[in-house]
Amino acid sequence: MNIIDRPELAGLTTLRLGGRAIAAIRLDSLDDCEKLPEALRLTGGSAHVLGGGSNLLVHDGDLPITVIRPLMGSRNAEGRPAEPEILGTEDGPDGRYTLLRVGAGMRMPFLLSWTVKRGLAGLEGLVGVPGRVGGAVAMNAGSYGCSTAPLMRSLTVFTPERGLHELGPEGWVASYRHFSLAEPCSWYMSASVVLAMKQADPAELRRIMQENFQKKKSGQPVHEHTAGCVFKNPEGQSAGRLLDAAGMKGRRRGALYFSEMHANFLAHDTKCGIEGRSEDALALIAEARAAVRERFGIELEMEVREWPAWR
Ligand code: EPU
Repeated sequence: MNIIDRPELAGLTTLRLGGRAIAAIRLDSLDDCEKLPEALRLTGGSAHVLGGGSNLLVHDGDLPITVIRPLMGSRNAEGRPAEPEILGTEDGPDGRYTLLRVGAGMRMPFLLSWTVKRGLAGLEGLVGVPGRVGGAVAMNAGSYGCSTAPLMRSLTVFTPERGLHELGPEGWVASYRHFSLAEPCSWYMSASVVLAMKQADPAELRRIMQENFQKKKSGQPVHEHTAGCVFKNPEGQSAGRLLDAAGMKGRRRGALYFSEMHANFLAHDTKCGIEGRSEDALALIAEARAAVRERFGIELEMEVREWPAWR
């Protein structure tokens, strides 16, 4: 475990926004979870779990929060990227599955290329999705027909109420871009997850992954600083299409703007010479919601998480 005082959060998020937390507690192993309650007591502030920071809009200024960074599974003892642990195989109605245990801190792009290389299917739609495994679980991240929760067999989580424990699928509730624990808890942190991945042809998986990446590159601003899609898609609709029709594409405040490529991506122009402010991001979000409400009578719901999380 490692505790850093007053970390600057902008550099830990893909949107490159955010002020300073009271502290960041970095966890490198499951054993570190035992020391977490005492560490949080010492730092104070409300606990916020940070993975790859790819779905976050963090406020500016001094924030009364302590950030927990569950990095278990990201590096091995030699400092190289850790690999998933193969637990075994099982036969399902449609083929053979390999069970993998993966630490919450593993980077999603690493996990994707590791599994595709070994002919393990299920994540190929998530190509180009940054972030870490814990974040993909927390958001039930999905893209091009793949999502995280259906692959999950079990989850080892820490909660302040129960400490570290393992849950089966009955222990969580997952739907489109939503994931929560079935048990009451003030907050939770994923430590590791067991995924069941169907065995398939590596060449075919690589082809599907490359095809998905081409689609993504041609329709989403993968080279801009964004936090992914800002709003969830309302049922049967595309938030991007609604925002586009409501005139939000390219709308700008300071260094923040809605992408010209896809209107549901709020982006940060870090090179324009104006300091990016969360206030501008929040004002643009409010403007976008009002525009879609006025034009279509639809209330857009945020997908991106705002920190501090209690407003
Ligand atoms: N569209 C527009 N204008 C825009 C953006 C989109 O007219 O500015 C139109 C497109 O032309 C298309 C339709 O809207 O006809 C849908 O757009 P797209 O295919 O880009 O899909 P999406 O519904 O906007 C969803 C997910 C993405 C995911 C893609 C691919 C949400 C909120 N978005 O986007 O996920 O990558 O499908 O599966 O669920 C994310 O969640 O962060 C995310 C990026």
